[in-house]
Amino acid sequence: MAKKIAVEYRVYDGPDALAYAAAEHFLEQAQQAVAARGKVRVAVSGGSTPKRTFALLANPREKFLKVMPWQQLELFFVDERTVPPDDMDSNYRMTREAMLDKVPLKPEQVFRIQGELPPEEAAARYESVLRNQFKLEGAEVPRFDVLALGMGDDGHTASIFPHTAGIHELARLVYANQVPQKDTWRVTLTWPVIVEAGEVFFLIGGKDKADPLHRVLQGPYDPETLPSQLIQPKNGKLLLLLDKDAAALLPPPDASGVGRLEIAR
Ligand code: 6PG
Repeated sequence: MAKKIAVEYRVYDGPDALAYAAAEHFLEQAQQAVAARGKVRVAVSGGSTPKRTFALLANPREKFLKVMPWQQLELFFVDERTVPPDDMDSNYRMTREAMLDKVPLKPEQVFRIQGELPPEEAAARYESVLRNQFKLEGAEVPRFDVLALGMGDDGHTASIFPHTAGIHELARLVYANQVPQKDTWRVTLTWPVIVEAGEVFFLIGGKDKADPLHRVLQGPYDPETLPSQLIQPKNGKLLLLLDKDAAALLPPPDASGVGRLEIAR
């Protein structure tokens, strides 16, 4: 029986408007989670796109620093490169420089993937951190309140790259994924954890994402080639925040900049 996913994509003029929309969305989701459950657990992706959003959240001249429920927020990572935390490629370093050093989060509210360790050990340690923080038993899967994803121009998301074993990892919560096309290993949440989140959204910008995004959303289902297609949130909804360049090959949005698709998986 095919599952239907209601896709909503919101299209913004450029990278600044996109970043601002993402910051607003983080704030809105965080406030909702705290109102409902007294805390908010967020998992963020790395790469370059989130930088502008993190900078906005930390900017004292913007509203976010004042109104975000930082005290009730726990910050986790969707994935990490197998490098030390001060390495230029580290997602943690990017997030620390853009945001963590400038917002009132205590160290115990931030859960870093230890990329400096051997990949399998880093994955195992992060999995036990999740089990402890979420008080998981048996086969339970952690449910993040908000989980932000990017997408590579090869259709990968998190560190689940085309034709890698991570596509098929269903048992673990965190996986050490060998990525031969990048001659590296990555540590990543597995897609069953990602789709469990209360709110999963993609944050995608740039011309080079237009074609892969079009194929992910409107092309044949082929997750080996387009792992982003694995992201079918359990709540049946998928939100994408896009800039015009990334949305160029999708059906034009309505007058308010919102487009809707229903995809069957
Ligand atoms: C990473 C990310 C990865 C990222 C995409 C898009 O570790 O790189 O988690 O999944 O979201 O590669 O990256 P850009 O935002 O740099 O295009």
